[in-house]
Amino acid sequence: MRAWVSHPTPEPAVAVLEAAGLDVRVGGDAAGADGVLAHLIETIDEAFLDRVGPQLKVVANFAVGTNNIDVAACQARGVVVTNTPDVLTTAVAEHALALMLGAAKHIAEGDRMIRAGRWRGWSENQIQAVELRGKTLGIVGMGRTGQEFARMAETALGMRIISSRPLPLDELLAEADVVSLHVPLRPETTHLIGARELALMKPKAILLNIARGPVVDEAALAEALAHGTIRGAALDVFEQEPRVHQGLLTAENAVLSPHLGSATAETRSAMARLAAENVVSVLLGRGPKTPVSG
Ligand code: GLV
Repeated sequence: MRAWVSHPTPEPAVAVLEAAGLDVRVGGDAAGADGVLAHLIETIDEAFLDRVGPQLKVVANFAVGTNNIDVAACQARGVVVTNTPDVLTTAVAEHALALMLGAAKHIAEGDRMIRAGRWRGWSENQIQAVELRGKTLGIVGMGRTGQEFARMAETALGMRIISSRPLPLDELLAEADVVSLHVPLRPETTHLIGARELALMKPKAILLNIARGPVVDEAALAEALAHGTIRGAALDVFEQEPRVHQGLLTAENAVLSPHLGSATAETRSAMARLAAENVVSVLLGRGPKTPVSG
């Protein structure tokens, strides 16, 4: 049986697939594969499924989010879809913490100031940061990463946590000093945060997006940052990666990170193992380890 891996993937992905006796191909043509290990930049739609052929049994995403996959189309053809939950929770929550601290303490802005030769030495008013202790963190999407980030922020920083379950989003937006997005990308979460929602936030609030770019209307966010509707934003994901809205590139109060949420060596290797084990487990008839229901 054949396994197709969409892009070079950390070990032990190929080792696990080969140890199960699969014929592994990385990149190139997926036609004829029985199992696919896909990165989130690979679109798995009807056209892809047609190209691969009816022998395909499993698509294992190398990600927890599955918005690159038409799960219903896979299910209609009896193709199992899996993702990589749990193994990346710590990495993503730590990255959210880094983004929050980065935005609150103006780390990137200060770094740019030094590198551009604009730093004139210590002065009491060069940049004014935000203290997070006692501030309210509003988590939108209390799944695994949302819960873990909340726990870290509460225990490490003494923040007060509110969440969109059960609080209505509008109330959360009006109350939080930091709003952090952890929802999957679906039709109903596309542009969940737009001009109306940004206007509901406190003028001193910070927005974090570590979910998927299209959850935020980037043009509206760029406007809000330019006009001081909110204080700042830190983004790990963008609407049209790797393109970033011009208004965000020029915003001093935006911290930008290139979709690095799960990018630790430990986590990427655990994701590689889990994705490969899902392919093997389905192809050997043992069923998926972490199926996606759609
Ligand atoms: C990364 O963005 C993931 O969904 O795993």
